[in-house]
Amino acid sequence: MSQTLQSVRGMNDILPDEAEFWEVFEDTIRSWLKGYGYRPIRMPIVEPTPLFKRAIGEVTDIVEKEMYSFEDSLNGEQLTLRPEGTAGCVRAVIQHGLANQVPRRLYYIGQMFRHERPQKGRYRQFHQVGVESIGFAGPDIDAEMILMGARLWADLGLDGIELQINSLGQPEERAQHRAALISYFEEHAEILDEDAKRRLYTNPLRILDTKNPALQDMCAAAPKLIDYLGEASLAHFEGVQRVLRDAGVPFVINPRLVRGLDYYNLTVFEWVTDKLGAQGTVCAGGRYDGLVEQLGGKSTPACGFAMGVERLIALIKESGGEPAAPAPDVYLVHQGEAASRLAFRVAEGLRDHGIDVLLHCGGGSFKSQMKKADGSGATFAVVIGDDEAATGEAQLKYLREEGVEQRKLKVDDLADAIIGQLIDSDEEE
Ligand code: HAM
Repeated sequence: MSQTLQSVRGMNDILPDEAEFWEVFEDTIRSWLKGYGYRPIRMPIVEPTPLFKRAIGEVTDIVEKEMYSFEDSLNGEQLTLRPEGTAGCVRAVIQHGLANQVPRRLYYIGQMFRHERPQKGRYRQFHQVGVESIGFAGPDIDAEMILMGARLWADLGLDGIELQINSLGQPEERAQHRAALISYFEEHAEILDEDAKRRLYTNPLRILDTKNPALQDMCAAAPKLIDYLGEASLAHFEGVQRVLRDAGVPFVINPRLVRGLDYYNLTVFEWVTDKLGAQGTVCAGGRYDGLVEQLGGKSTPACGFAMGVERLIALIKESGGEPAAPAPDVYLVHQGEAASRLAFRVAEGLRDHGIDVLLHCGGGSFKSQMKKADGSGATFAVVIGDDEAATGEAQLKYLREEGVEQRKLKVDDLADAIIGQLIDSDEEE
């Protein structure tokens, strides 16, 4: 026998029980985004590789080692499965002239791909809800994006998610800080690990992000970017904090928050939980004022964030949230040829009235079909045998309570009876 095939490591199937949970989650997400005026955009999963190199940066973990890249065998073009959505979203905004109609508030939901070592909360295919606003320069939108997070956690019944913020200033300010940082690290060259040495002259800021315990004290005492920020950058940062304070959203300033993608300037932020182990960042983002121009568009300020769907769903479950699996209103049981033909007509007729019907398929005795009806969670069973078919009738059985008699009705009266009972039981609840 040939070996059964498995999904690719780090890329998971989302089975129906789980997928229903995801759909409920996505409904919440869409209505939350609508509440803030965001509109959907859908970009391709595959983009030209240079897009990510230019946007995310050549000396980043993502571009150096995590991208699924391949050559198009027909024309030799270098392509990559998107590791994140901001680059593609900005490309689409430029390509379709949306940047000329700023300001824009956009969101996307979908798969991203990173060749990381899989572990709990870290996958090679994962899903993000990405939120981007193009054309706003002030700190108000940064703050609003952060407030959006706070509202979503409340909507989802989540608490204890810590907000960390920082300002990365402007490129000139970072250049001065970078020079100071390089001198500082050179003074401590003897304790730098291989990763840090490799990054010393290419991306010294990322050394501050190291997980190596031996470097923690040295990194804690390193020159701080905040001390190199000019007046305008400080005012922007203060503007964000003021809105957060006014709204009563607690935050921690984390000077070591530098993010793993190079396009950021000014505000960066992360929402972090301690309930998910090592992969506790559920949402992260910041301002990226240079990216539109860097990708060939007109200079346009922008800001955004993305949430990891797998991590948020895990957190909702961890916090005891479990949305009920949606059940049909009616399970339609039928046996015999005439009954089956009538059953199809009845099912479509009920659906015309907005009633959800699970029509039994695959035959079997009344008894086994009734078992399936009970297991489906349906509110009613509608039962049609050849006797009923002959008179254009059906049995209606209420499944929510034990011992309720079933009644025989004309099939044309079923919809009214079902809707009436559904309204009554909603009122009782
Ligand atoms: P990021 O920090 O790379 O930012 O990813 C955002 C979120 O995606 C993370 O906080 C995490 O929840 C989730 N995530 C990332 N990698 C994985 C993984 N391997 N497995 C599971 N979840 C993961 C960005 O991607 C930026 N594009 C965010 C942004 C939008 N900045 C501005 N606009």
